[in-house]
Amino acid sequence: MHFYRARTVLITGASSGIGEAMARLLAPHRPHLLLVARSEEILEALAADCRAEGARADVFVHDLAEPGAAQALFDRVTAAGHHVDVLINNAGFGKLGAFVDYPAATYEQMVTLNVTTLTALTRLFLEPMVKRQSGGILNVASLAAYLPAPYFTVYAATKAYVFSFTEALHAELKRSGVHLTALAPGPVATNFAGAADMKYLVGGPAISAERAARAGLEALARNQRAVLPSLLTKVTAWATRLVPKTPTLAITGRLIRRASTQPTF
Ligand SMILES: NC(=O)c1ccc[n+]([C@@H]2O[C@H](COP(=O)([O-])OP(=O)(O)OC[C@H]3O[C@@H](n4cnc5c(N)ncnc54)[C@H](OP(=O)(O)O)[C@@H]3O)[C@@H](O)[C@H]2O)c1
Repeated sequence: MHFYRARTVLITGASSGIGEAMARLLAPHRPHLLLVARSEEILEALAADCRAEGARADVFVHDLAEPGAAQALFDRVTAAGHHVDVLINNAGFGKLGAFVDYPAATYEQMVTLNVTTLTALTRLFLEPMVKRQSGGILNVASLAAYLPAPYFTVYAATKAYVFSFTEALHAELKRSGVHLTALAPGPVATNFAGAADMKYLVGGPAISAERAARAGLEALARNQRAVLPSLLTKVTAWATRLVPKTPTLAITGRLIRRASTQPTF
């Protein structure tokens, strides 16, 4: 974790799950944490815990699913005098069920948060990193990036975007001095399933948020292009490359549909 020592690290979605675990893992390494999410009280309590561990910590209550959210956050952070060394684009959500079960507005928010804001934050915070020839960006994708997912259609597509974008940018920045990594976890025990209207997480036993967080932070420090934080995730990703798409889609659809709390056809 030497990479993070005394650096300014901005974490989106820091109020729970993987983002919170990242903040707690980093805190003893005395970084300056900028914690971003919508839940103010939870963020303030986390900031206090991180300060007790030796970190500096500031809270930015910000809805990243709003149009223009990335520029507004960048302006707030810059106006407060912070120079971000490491950006962790972790905030995201999905909705499991038949595509027509959710209103178009839900998908607009999902694409804005998972794709548009992530891309814009990367663009805004990357430029000064490239100028300084130092820093890093960790984008949280998902195992769902590896294949189209019936009953999880828009979420899987957003994560395919995050994975593709990050792998390509990693190659583009190879000699820039800036690290770029995609974290692609399978099931992780967080609030994600509840927010996604899932009865249970699909894809096998869940790993802890701490394990997923550690895998991502360590991979970024090494400037690894992508990391899948469990053997099961690696095997599943590998299988999606080998098995033909028609049976894969049918099996994936059946597994995901069973986990839905929504009325599906
Ligand atoms: N858990 C899994 O099985 C799993 C697997 C693969 C990938 N992932 C990915 O991991 C990332 C973190 O998810 P998690 O599993 O840790 O879930 P989580 O516990 O539900 O955490 C999601 C975080 O995103 C924040 N967030 C949600 N909407 C937001 C908005 N509009 N503006 C700002 N912040 C927002 C939430 O904070 P507030 O509600 O306070 O805003 C929360 O801090 C996501 O990108 C998810 O897609 C999760």
